[in-house]
Amino acid sequence: MRIAVITESDPNETRVAATPETVKKLIGLGATFTVEAGAGIRSGITDEDYVAAGAGIAKTAKAALKDAGIVLKVRRPSTAEIGLMPKGAMVLAIMDPYGNGDALKAMADAGLAAFSMELMPRITRAQVMDVLSSQANLAGYRAVIDAAEEYGRALPMMMTAAGTVPAAKCFIMGVGVAGLQAIATARRLGAVVTATDVRPATKEQVESLGAKFVAVEDEEFKNAETAGGYAKEMSKEYQAKQAALVASHVAKQDIVITTALIPGRPAPRLITAEMVASMRPGSVIIDLAVERGGNVEGAEAGKTVTTANGVKIVGHLNVPGRLAATASSLYAKNLFAFLETMIDKGSKSLAVKWEDELVKATNLTRDGAVVHPNFQPAATA
Ligand code: NAI
Repeated sequence: MRIAVITESDPNETRVAATPETVKKLIGLGATFTVEAGAGIRSGITDEDYVAAGAGIAKTAKAALKDAGIVLKVRRPSTAEIGLMPKGAMVLAIMDPYGNGDALKAMADAGLAAFSMELMPRITRAQVMDVLSSQANLAGYRAVIDAAEEYGRALPMMMTAAGTVPAAKCFIMGVGVAGLQAIATARRLGAVVTATDVRPATKEQVESLGAKFVAVEDEEFKNAETAGGYAKEMSKEYQAKQAALVASHVAKQDIVITTALIPGRPAPRLITAEMVASMRPGSVIIDLAVERGGNVEGAEAGKTVTTANGVKIVGHLNVPGRLAATASSLYAKNLFAFLETMIDKGSKSLAVKWEDELVKATNLTRDGAVVHPNFQPAATA
């Protein structure tokens, strides 16, 4: 069981797929570990820290990957990285598989067994492996911190001798894991918080965090959740009604944070250019969905745009990576928890149960083929 961890080649990726803690635990289960020099540095982990945990350090990705049976990554391997991975190796990463059929085929052709961590079923047993939750929670927190930084005023109400400062009004759109953490964080900072979502179950969650729920609550809304707990794409009629309600609300907000996603589909457009234009100068919008097409018209991935009327639209890439040390420590634990289920503790060797529901749900490629039912060539086309 040789495990390799390499430096993420995407320049925006600050996270790393293993920490000294998970290295130590996996070595305890019979693995040997090789980490590429400098792989952890952007998460505050030095080569010495990995060595102290029992890992070896390789000078290059090529040297780290040589003879690796398991590769732990944050992002899907690039073509160059795939070329360095031994045939038959298992690769665990956030694979972003939707719409990336060619990349999946490249991993299949290279004989890799690729696992997409974001396809982990959201069942109790797999909560500890849920990378979407571990990373979205941090993104929700960071979105509020980023908004507070960009906003030229204070968030809490302050009564001072020089006068009273009103609390900032903060609207959270999309109340999944990121949105819930954004509500909690904005409340802690003293903002007046409202939130919306198309899933009816979120109303109670919003209210339990002390925020006010804002949505068109018609028949369609009452049935808007899939069996898997995700949002459905809403009808054009619903979207129009909701947009009218949201438009009048947004005009009165100081900070808007959007987090709305629909698995496997482009992010829904929630904020139009007119709504942005209706906001006061100095208001801030954070679009957490910017990498999936964006919830906000005018948002640009990787940029902060200031509109003609002085509204800042923030489109940071890789928001969890803006808290790299925390994000890496949680992500590495997610990977460890999954990998642990594939190791036979008696013989201290790899024993993947290919029929296990977690393995089947996440395994994209194996033995030269794309094996996941959702990503068959016909389905992709
Ligand atoms: P997500 O990241 O897929 O989407 C974020 C939010 O956007 C969701 O709440 C979704 O309903 C909302 N949304 C989509 N379209 C919208 C629109 N047009 N307007 C407003 N909001 C819109 O969601 P996430 O964070 O992955 O959570 C999805 C579900 O999974 C939730 O029910 C969550 O509680 C559940 N969950 C369950 C876990 C488990 O282990 N049982 C773990 C984590 C989440």
